[in-house]
Amino acid sequence: MGAKAIVLVGAGLAVLASGCTSNHAALNPAGPRARHIADLMLLFVGVSTIVYLVVIAFLIWAMWRRRARAHLQGAQATRAAENKARRVIGAALALTVVVLITLALADFFVQRFLAAHPADALRVLVTGHQYWWEVEYDDPDPSQRLHTANEFHIPVGRPVELVLTSQDVIHSMWLPNLTGKKDLIPGHTNTEVLLADKPGEYSGQCAEFCGLQHAQMRLIVRAEPAAQFETWRQQQLAPARAPQSDAERRGQEVFVRSTCILCHTIQGTDASATVAPDLTHLASRGMLAAGTLPNTQGNLSSWILAPHRFKPGVQMPATALPPDELAALAAYLASLR
Ligand code: CUA
Repeated sequence: MGAKAIVLVGAGLAVLASGCTSNHAALNPAGPRARHIADLMLLFVGVSTIVYLVVIAFLIWAMWRRRARAHLQGAQATRAAENKARRVIGAALALTVVVLITLALADFFVQRFLAAHPADALRVLVTGHQYWWEVEYDDPDPSQRLHTANEFHIPVGRPVELVLTSQDVIHSMWLPNLTGKKDLIPGHTNTEVLLADKPGEYSGQCAEFCGLQHAQMRLIVRAEPAAQFETWRQQQLAPARAPQSDAERRGQEVFVRSTCILCHTIQGTDASATVAPDLTHLASRGMLAAGTLPNTQGNLSSWILAPHRFKPGVQMPATALPPDELAALAAYLASLR
């Protein structure tokens, strides 16, 4: 029992500690928006804790006092006690109002800060799908509009305005290190601003139950210095790398003559469907299936063959291919850096 309690307390402390250091934690802000939200939360928790302790202290004091004064009697003593109680209650009431107004004002100023959208922001359109994130960088020049999915990069220090909508049901984007939650609603657009002041890889999650694989609808944002971001942007804008080996050439043939082409795009090939994630630079992403599997050639094969095994309820159908064709297809996809 004692050992169990120690383990539980240890685990609790570990969770608290990771909350202050991890790349998926509201208490580890990496930008001014998340910092304001974290400060507001700490203010509310701090004030509530103090109020709770003061109330408990008064409760204990009142119980002890009542026992100590039980022998006092008479109308005069009662009147004096009532007058005192009225004053104490009046003071407590006034203090409560002051505390509530202070918290309401703090909340108002944080909301006002969060509602301000900078004019020079980079615009990124994010569309929620069951169960993945479609990402498009907006640009007046169509050739500069880059498409990716589930993982995108932002420049450190420059605000990014996300324009959020959904293709099917309501989703919610939550990148706790960068900002609060915002819903993605079909037929409606919401906006949210990301501003990272530290480079890093920040993990996000769909925060609105949207179906069987809601929990496996993750997203990664990489914040990097402007020059590095520009390199990534140029690399993502380029058409897909041409197949180099025989296996890759065979894999590309398999891709364009199988059902893959009905849903996916690979820029520079005949595949241009937009139902499912753009695969032009699939191999440059760290994870497959919205954070479900590490992006390796082996996992690609397993995923194509039986996506439901990893993500029951996923919209992608299983694709039965002879082993040699599957291996060639996986080799081709794994080459799309
Ligand atoms: Cu999308 Cu939950």
